[in-house]
Amino acid sequence: MAESILVTGGAGYIGSHTVLQLLLSGFRVVVVDNLNNSAAVAIKRVSELAGEFGKNLAFQQIDLRDKAALNKLFDLTHFDAVIHFAGLKAVGESVQKPLLYYNNNLIGTISLLEVMAAHRCMKLVFSSSATVYGCPKEVPCREEFPLSALNPYGRTKIIIEEICRDIHCADSDWKIILLRYFNPVGAHSSGYIGDDPHGVPNNLMPFVQQVAVGRRPALTVYGNDYSTKDGTGVRDYIHVVDLADGHVSALKKLFEGSNIGCEAYNLGTGKGTTVLEMVAAFESVSGKKVPLVMAGRRPGDAEILYASTAKAEKELKWKAKYSIEEMCRDQWNWASKNPYGYGSPDSSD
Ligand code: NAD
Ligand code: UD1
Repeated sequence: MAESILVTGGAGYIGSHTVLQLLLSGFRVVVVDNLNNSAAVAIKRVSELAGEFGKNLAFQQIDLRDKAALNKLFDLTHFDAVIHFAGLKAVGESVQKPLLYYNNNLIGTISLLEVMAAHRCMKLVFSSSATVYGCPKEVPCREEFPLSALNPYGRTKIIIEEICRDIHCADSDWKIILLRYFNPVGAHSSGYIGDDPHGVPNNLMPFVQQVAVGRRPALTVYGNDYSTKDGTGVRDYIHVVDLADGHVSALKKLFEGSNIGCEAYNLGTGKGTTVLEMVAAFESVSGKKVPLVMAGRRPGDAEILYASTAKAEKELKWKAKYSIEEMCRDQWNWASKNPYGYGSPDSSD
């Protein structure tokens, strides 16, 4: 009998791609999402992409803070493990509305962990972020580096990591893998699912894509005076399908490994790319010109951030395989087929 996985936030960008890879790997999946930053049509498209495996996918519109609804779901369904994506993720908004972030991300997670513990479902994969490294003193970032938060969003990730370490300390039946994502970009090669942020995108590639389809006039480049090859910031961009596969590898470790404990792993490629290199790669695969406006540095931005991938390669037996060109190709394929994401021109801003 295939293992049954609860995926919180499974209608979102990374969640939807991961659910597809889980289905194709033979898992049964129940998605819980409040659709705060996503659309139910993403779940329908994942089911279609999964073909015959689509029948193994179910969706429940639940807010994680609704503990009674979560309890009921766990009473009715046995889950072998949980992948927990659900959370708010806009850094700027978290600075403006810290209580919204602490309420949603922390209370949502505590509610989930309490219900899991009550049902003795003790295997968890959690979506952490490279943001927990703050502005590191050196690169590549290794998992044992000190953690520091630059904003309330980042603080919720560090607090949830600490909660996970504490619950494992209190009860070693917990098996927890914390995945620290670097910069997920791209989309499934079908162009049928992808990133569809509500409002003005905060992240580089969703913004580039909206410029390319004519929804925004130009990309503002935040800083061209960094000590990098062209003066713009360096990040570790990773194809979202590689990231999704990293979750399948993490689950396999939870099911097959012993002495899992509560461990953090970087999911990145280990390679740094500048903003201008990313834009050039996107222009070359799309044939579209992306006008640029140079601006000052964005507060809280690190200069150079990329991952050490050694721990994930060794212990999760996972390695990213897609290139920057493939990330941009798939981002453009999604953008050109869905210029307004899952919505319509009227629903966008
Ligand atoms: P996303 O916004 O597309 O997906 C998150 C999903 O969670 C959404 O569908 C949203 O509706 C749902 N959600 C939020 N709060 C909820 C709640 N209280 N109850 C139920 N559902 C809720 O974001 P994403 O890019 O797919 O990110 C997924 C996770 O990965 C997040 O935890 C995010 O912080 C983390 N992460 C993302 C990135 C990135 O660049 N996208 C980088 C590092 C970490
Ligand atoms: C941002 C968040 C980080 C979060 C991550 C993934 C901030 C300060 N950090 O990181 O907490 O974990 O997203 O969601 O918001 N850039 C531009 N113009 C733009 C957008 C971005 O030049 O319009 C540049 C940035 O300065 C940076 C690079 O592009 O050098 C990547 O930016 P972004 O996609 O926002 O990711 P991070 O800064 O890594």
